[in-house]
Order: sequence, then C-alpha cells, then structure tokens
Amino acid sequence: MQQICRLQSTERAPWPSAAPPWASSEAKSKSRDTHPSRCLDVSTFGLLNVCRAYCHKTARRRPLTTSSTTTTPFPTTRYQGSKRKLTGAILAQLENLEFTTALDAFAGTGAVAHSLKNIRKHVTYNDALAFNHQIGLALIENDTVTISDADIMSATSRHPGIDYDNFIEQTFDDIYFTSEENTWLDVTTQNIRRVECKYKRAMLFYALFQSTMIKRPYNLFHRKNLYMRTANVERSFGNKATWDRPFPDHFTKFALEANAAIINTNGTCNATCRDALAIEETFDLVYIDPPYVSGSTSGRKVGAKVGVSVGVDYHHFYHFLEGMTRYADWPTLVDQTSKHRRLKSQSNPWCNGSKNTEMFSHLFERFEKSILVISYRSDGTPSIDELRARLARVKQNVTVIEGKRYQYALSTNRKSHEVLLIGR
Ligand SMILES: C[S@@+](CC[C@H](N)C(=O)[O-])C[C@H]1O[C@@H](n2cnc3c(N)ncnc32)[C@H](O)[C@@H]1O
Repeated sequence: MQQICRLQSTERAPWPSAAPPWASSEAKSKSRDTHPSRCLDVSTFGLLNVCRAYCHKTARRRPLTTSSTTTTPFPTTRYQGSKRKLTGAILAQLENLEFTTALDAFAGTGAVAHSLKNIRKHVTYNDALAFNHQIGLALIENDTVTISDADIMSATSRHPGIDYDNFIEQTFDDIYFTSEENTWLDVTTQNIRRVECKYKRAMLFYALFQSTMIKRPYNLFHRKNLYMRTANVERSFGNKATWDRPFPDHFTKFALEANAAIINTNGTCNATCRDALAIEETFDLVYIDPPYVSGSTSGRKVGAKVGVSVGVDYHHFYHFLEGMTRYADWPTLVDQTSKHRRLKSQSNPWCNGSKNTEMFSHLFERFEKSILVISYRSDGTPSIDELRARLARVKQNVTVIEGKRYQYALSTNRKSHEVLLIGR
C-alpha cells in the first residue's frame, strides 16, 4: 500500500535527542558524550512536524548503538548549500531506519557523509568536482593521516631546485588576490601536488581550499572583485580583517581543523568522483542533495533562458578551487575570454529547472532498491508535490518532513525552508 504523508504545521514531534537546544551547556555536553548526532544542531527538524502515518511492519532495530563511539566534530565551512548545521537534524530522522552502507551522492563539504561515518555507517562520499573529491579523500576515506607542522612548512615554502610555474600570478592578476598572494598560491599548490601520500595531499588541499575561500568576498569566485577588499572605503559589510590575514595563518588554522575531523573506521568509508548517475554500486541508503534550483525565474543567475530557473552552478562558483586541483591542465581548461577567468562552462542538467525533474526520476530508478533520503527546499524546482509523486513511483512509503524556516547565508528568499523526503 502506498502511503504518502504531508505534515500539518501545527503538529509537534517529540524531541528526538537527550538535550534540546535550550538545555544547559552541561546537559548538552553530557549528551554529546553518549550520542554522536546529538552534539550537532538538531533544531531544524527537531521542532518539526513529523509524519507518523506510516507504520513499521516489523520491529526495526535501531541503527548501530553509538555509546561506545565518540563524536568527532566537522570543521567550519563556507560552502554554498552545506548541510553542516543540519546534520544532527537529518541523522535524527534516520534513527529508525536500518542500514549499514550509505552513499552521499552529492557530498560537497562531506558534512552528511562525515556525520554518518561518525555513527559508524559504511559511507561512500561522491561528488562530480575534482576539488570536492580531495575533500572526500581527506575527511571521509582517510582514517589516520594528519598534517604535522613540518608538512605545513614544507607545503607552503619555496624549495630550492624546483622550477615553479606561475600560472596563477600571470592569469589572475588583480582578479581575486594580490600579486604576492597569487605567487604563494602557485608555490603551495605545486608543492601539495608533489606530496606522495594521497591522504596527506588531500588534507593539505583541504586546508588550501578553505584558506582560499575565506579570503574571498562572498567566499566565491564568481566575479573579478579584488577591489572590494583593497579599495580605501568605509565598509558596512564583509570582513576585511579576514580577507587581509595572510594565507599561511589561515592555512595552519584549517590544517588543525582537518586534523581534528579525522575518524578511524578501519577502511569502511571511501570517496569517489563521478556523475551521481554513473555510480554502479548498491547501497542500503542513498542521500541526495543536488544543486538547489529555486522556483523563481527572475534571472538571479546569468545566462538563464526566460522562464527557466537556474540552480547553483558549483563548477562556476568554485572554478578556482577546481583549477588548483587540476593545476597542470588549468591552462587548457580556463576560459581566457571571461573577465574573471572562469573555467570553460559545462552544462549540468541538475542546475537547470527544465531538466532536473527528469534527473531526479532517473536517480530514483537507479537506486530504487535503496532507502532514498532527499534534502530539499520548500520553494525548489520541481515542486515538493512533483518530487514526492516521482519518489512514490519507486517507493511504497514516502515521508515528507518539513523543517522550520532555515536561511542560507546568501539567500534573499525569506519564505524558503528545509524539507527532507524519505522513500522506503
Ligand atoms: C547542494 S551541494 C551538496 C552539499 C552537501 N550536502 C554538503 O553538506 O556540503 C551539491 C553538490 O553536488 C555536486 N554535483 C553537481 N552535479 C553533480 C553530479 N552530476 N554528480 C555528482 N555531484 C554533483 C556539486 O559539486 C555540489 O558539491
């Protein structure tokens, strides 16, 4: 029997964890010791209206008990659409589902994959972008490798005998960073690429990406706007002190954060870099968080056809990080005609409001045997009703869970809130 539920906004779910957000910090830290998901922000779905209309035909075992494991914190991040602040809320919704293997198909920062690794699920991190793959290798596949002071020194210093290329300095003059910073980026990127151990290399790349993002207005690479940082003007926004802090300082801080995020699960997790639809393996659960395509067609993104919503284009927003990862190929990948020297554009159907609905259907069919969990927004394209109907074609039980209002840092849409769809 097919059961589809839509939540009533007046219903309240029982608090799913030991310590609600208003509990004392002592109570919170107590619960933190005993349950990994509970040290994270569970409020978004915690105050949710949870659909209880479906019933469990058989008594389900709780996911692996977590009392013997300690929670490892996920580092701070400035990545668009990161679910870092929602992982506790998402995990709380998965508590009664029985699964061991999980795919985070559009993993980005890896926040969700990391929270699943924390509760000892066997996680595969996947993302189509090469720089994100490095993040997956560093924080998800890597079990033991950390960065030492000597590694930092070696990665960030110019070594005698190496003939360094200066592609960044030449190509990105006056676009994102100062000339001196561009030189530092050229040297550090090339040093990191020479590191033999793939996990150490990935950890160093992680620190490099975070340092590069934090020094950018809006944390993006979508415009030539170094002037925002260097102009001698009164500022009502932005963080000039952070933008001006030297790269090595940021790099060291993020290296330490990455070190603190490593969990040893003895080889049970891995990272892949594929189109989500090209993944061949099977999983008990697949978590799906593709680029957000808003319902509005007001043309917030450049290049949209009239009437077509366009989603967050990660390849465009983060092209500089992708370029550093693929440094040797960068000269052939860069679009020299664009003012901000982006990579030659690649069309992605997941970012196109007239194509992504079909992509969801293909993905649901591809993983029809898995529990499907989809992070979504109330104002997304396709609509939640459409998505729910498509999910119901492959899944008997579909649950729609609406979170309280949640604002992305850069979002101007005040009516949008988080939604989680679960198909079983
Ligand atoms: C909304 S973000 C995911 C955020 C992630 N859940 C987090 O917490 O950081 C969407 C991600 O999908 C990736 N992506 C876009 N198209 C993809 C595709 N066809 N296959 C796999 N990943 C893709 C992007 O690189 C981006 O990192």
